[in-house]
Amino acid sequence: MYSIPFLDMPALQSAQGVVHLPGSKSISNRVLLLAALSKGTTQIHDLLDSDDTRVMLDALQKMGCTINKKNDVLEVTGIAGQIDSSISLDLFLGNAGTAMRPLTAALAIMGASATMRGVTRMHERPIGDLVDALRQLGCVIDYIANEGFPPLQLKGCPSPKLDGPIRVRGDVSSQFLTALLMALPLVAKQNITIEVQGELISKPYIEITLNLLAQFGIVVKRDQWSRFVIPLGSQYISPGVVHVEADASSASYFVALGAITQGSGVRIQGVGLQSIQGDIRFVDSAKQMGAHITGGHNWLEIKQSQWPLKSIELDCNHIPDAAMTLAVMALFADAPSTLKNIGSWRVKETDRIAAMACEARKLGAHIEEGPDWLRIHPIAKGQWKSASIHTYEDHRLAMCFSLAAFNADQLPVRIEDPACVAKTFPDYFETLFSVCKSNTIPVICIDGPTASGKGTLAWAVAQRLGFNYLDSGALYRITALAAVRAGLSLQPEQSDAIAQLASKSKIQFDGECILLNGTNISQNIRTEEAGMNASKVSSMPAVRQALVDLQHSFKRLPGLVADGRDMGTVIFPASPLKVYLTASAEERAQRRYKQLISKGFSATLDTLRADLEARDARDMSRSLAPLVAAQDAMQLDNSHLSIDQSVDLVLSWWQSKQPKASSQS
Ligand code: DC
Repeated sequence: MYSIPFLDMPALQSAQGVVHLPGSKSISNRVLLLAALSKGTTQIHDLLDSDDTRVMLDALQKMGCTINKKNDVLEVTGIAGQIDSSISLDLFLGNAGTAMRPLTAALAIMGASATMRGVTRMHERPIGDLVDALRQLGCVIDYIANEGFPPLQLKGCPSPKLDGPIRVRGDVSSQFLTALLMALPLVAKQNITIEVQGELISKPYIEITLNLLAQFGIVVKRDQWSRFVIPLGSQYISPGVVHVEADASSASYFVALGAITQGSGVRIQGVGLQSIQGDIRFVDSAKQMGAHITGGHNWLEIKQSQWPLKSIELDCNHIPDAAMTLAVMALFADAPSTLKNIGSWRVKETDRIAAMACEARKLGAHIEEGPDWLRIHPIAKGQWKSASIHTYEDHRLAMCFSLAAFNADQLPVRIEDPACVAKTFPDYFETLFSVCKSNTIPVICIDGPTASGKGTLAWAVAQRLGFNYLDSGALYRITALAAVRAGLSLQPEQSDAIAQLASKSKIQFDGECILLNGTNISQNIRTEEAGMNASKVSSMPAVRQALVDLQHSFKRLPGLVADGRDMGTVIFPASPLKVYLTASAEERAQRRYKQLISKGFSATLDTLRADLEARDARDMSRSLAPLVAAQDAMQLDNSHLSIDQSVDLVLSWWQSKQPKASSQS
């Protein structure tokens, strides 16, 4: 996951390959609650691991459920519909509507005493209609701050009144009805009728609820979409094992990806055309816009069949979440598209109508908006603007707008707070990048003499930008170590044998750990001797050649920071930012001394300085790829700069090379 203030995505050109998607949020949180309310243990496969499921799991544990993780399977032992009302629960539910609403209903009906809280935005999302319905039943519930909104104080339910029909509004959030449908089986000493007032929105989510209730033994009778009866004697029975489908809303981004890019297509594993999730109907709209889609039980395959995409005019009530993806596809269409009946967007993680309009305008789109509709005009080639997309702590905003990186003008797109995708899809960007190609993956090169602080600087810059990192010196150190271990002398006549060894060796970087043919050699290559040996093998042309492809393979999305001696001159000569780092020999010897001593190695300052100077001399005088600053490199003498100052300087150079982001809204 990218836990950085913003992620700069270079322009993307094509996509192809297979993606495995995480479990559905809607199914995961419903299954968790149903398993928690049931008697017995439920093994849950493919559960989503995200912010929203984590808050639900925390709450269930506090309620008395036993939760165990065995490999990839989560085991939940439920409380059989009984809660200890003498214990006062304090539950924090983040911004998870799928946790707040159903848990409020279930706990209230079981007579629990509990405080239900969330993040600030959760305290702005309505819950009044659900509270009204629960109060009709005799549950005692107080608003702690604002009437109609969380936080709430649940104060028990002395004697549930179940005689008359329970009325709930269906036109604000379908989660209110879902919450009642999941809670009322706990008190089904008679038939219980729920009557929906107003036109029920997001019906497919109610279908998911009914489907999962049936898996847990509750067969609800439904009269159209206005009357639901929970039969007398209903009781939760764990089905033992449940498989969670991949998230159909998450799939929408990859369906769109297949439609807006050329190539052999995108395949999605984990969700298929027979999914119980309403958002699977997104595929119909995507087909209408020009995607060619085939699918089976748990897979989908998408190819582009028409370009530009066809505009669409659609009532999106049945796919409220996935419809956001249509809004971004509409930027690539042949005419304006209108998304109607999307009023529920206004009360989601953020006001999604306002947010989509504002961010699409930054990209150059003409957008019209109404209380419950949005008209998106496509952006013609030449009209796209480079934008910094604000994401409003809304995962879907981030995921939708990542697709704007396919813009016809090949502009990069900045996504602010990319970690917000953790709500439903923590590895979204990694998954996207795994199937996308870009001709403009940026590489920042940081070259310089030994102990100039290149590694520290390059690593920190990579962290700040979410880029990959290449420590090319480590490759020469590893090669020298492998050669010594193989009994080869480090003389020029052995250079072919050493080069062959370098090509055959399996070198892996796993965070701070470096593996050579499966063995951790991170420490072994950091000694002074290893550095000297590296300097020797690095002057052998055959060895340098043998390591070229490996170094190029580090150039992966979203970008690379590479440090070494010839990153800017030989390996990545087209790099848009090259930095040549220096520091006085005195200063570098001091740094290396401190570094070695702190790691428990013995060293003397004078020897270190002499070694450094010898190594610099060799690196600078060798015939192939000598250590020199690239002509277009920025010189940075960091003798008197802190690491943070150097990092900020390099980042400011980097920013100055980016197209100016549009902030027009
Ligand atoms: O940066 P370092 O000290 O880990 O590098 C070890 C040796 O490898 C150094 O003496 C020079 C050589 N090297 C090189 O020739 N080219 C690179 N791109 C990186 C390192």
